[in-house]
Amino acid sequence: MRDLLNSYRGAEAFVTGGLGFIGSNLARRLADLGACVTVLDSMQPEYGGNRFNLDGYEERLQVRFGDLRDEPALARLVQGQRYVFHLAGQVSHLDSMRDPFADLESNCRGQLCLLEACRRHNPRARIVNTSTRQVYGRPTRLPVDEGHPLAPVDVNGIHKLAGEAYHTLYHRVHGLRTTSLRLTNTYGPRMRVRDARQMFLGFWFRRLVEELPLEVYGDGAQKRDFNYVDDVVDALLFAAASSNAEGEIYNLGGTEAVSLLDLAQQMIELNGGGSFQQVPFPPERKGIDIGDYYASSSRFRSASGWQPAVGLRDGLSRTLEYYRTHRAHYW
Ligand SMILES: NC(=O)c1ccc[n+]([C@@H]2O[C@H](COP(=O)([O-])OP(=O)(O)OC[C@H]3O[C@@H](n4cnc5c(N)ncnc54)[C@H](O)[C@@H]3O)[C@@H](O)[C@H]2O)c1
Repeated sequence: MRDLLNSYRGAEAFVTGGLGFIGSNLARRLADLGACVTVLDSMQPEYGGNRFNLDGYEERLQVRFGDLRDEPALARLVQGQRYVFHLAGQVSHLDSMRDPFADLESNCRGQLCLLEACRRHNPRARIVNTSTRQVYGRPTRLPVDEGHPLAPVDVNGIHKLAGEAYHTLYHRVHGLRTTSLRLTNTYGPRMRVRDARQMFLGFWFRRLVEELPLEVYGDGAQKRDFNYVDDVVDALLFAAASSNAEGEIYNLGGTEAVSLLDLAQQMIELNGGGSFQQVPFPPERKGIDIGDYYASSSRFRSASGWQPAVGLRDGLSRTLEYYRTHRAHYW
């Protein structure tokens, strides 16, 4: 692993969405590994971008404020980059149903802008794209592996699936060196916790710190898996450094599957107090809910040597501690 991570020392690395949750954690880690990091972020208020996410790193990396769809600016930014990590995007499933065109712009047009910029100005860059488990829709079998049918249940899932397909196409036809990772629920420091528009779990952290009850939709029996953000950052680094991953699409998956009710109880216990209440599923959420989901990530583990290292309890404790300390910057 150390050899693999050594490949980042002194390397130029570009992170789109680098002030958001996963992008900022990745940018910090790349800087720690000695990479020359540039991040791009549009800082739209409804997304997860937050200047505090790069607190302490302002002098150690370059931050560019702007939109992925600004093609001339993007052309300049991709030039000379050895690694391109694509984390920018519209992430909320609910928002994708309320404003499908904004999701289309961000997740399809933005994606094509990036690939076209690389094709024209930096075709040898190693590109890693972040896709989502949402491309599978409601699982018909568990754990979900990459051979599972693709049947997204919301607009975001459809656009993320198209995004992956662009990457695979640009690899096959134009020789771009791309890999897509289908992330499962990711949590940890620097996630958006202001409200539940991106993921209920972020909002649960806020509610716990504020000593308010967690809301569990329905009976809470739905099972999910979760990855702590440091493990996802490792996966992105492993993917970019693995030449046998080029042109491929892989699942990431958590260390264990838990029901949402179990998750709420664990969080309350770790917090040393708190409560939850079961509430009816809001209809707009019920319509796009996927039921139980947990992934098999064995293909990616074999291809790259990655495996998640942070267990759920440990990750939840670390995240809770982060928001107790830094709440003033997140809501
Ligand atoms: N967090 C999860 O649980 C999860 C799960 C599955 C997939 N993903 C994927 O991981 C990626 C990162 O997600 P995140 O949780 O860090 O989200 P986030 O909202 O915290 O970060 C995304 C960042 O991208 C920026 N951005 C959006 N559109 C942009 C544009 N057109 N130009 C420039 N910047 C733009 C936003 O301002 C934001 O800072 C996304 O592609 C998402 O689909 C995340």
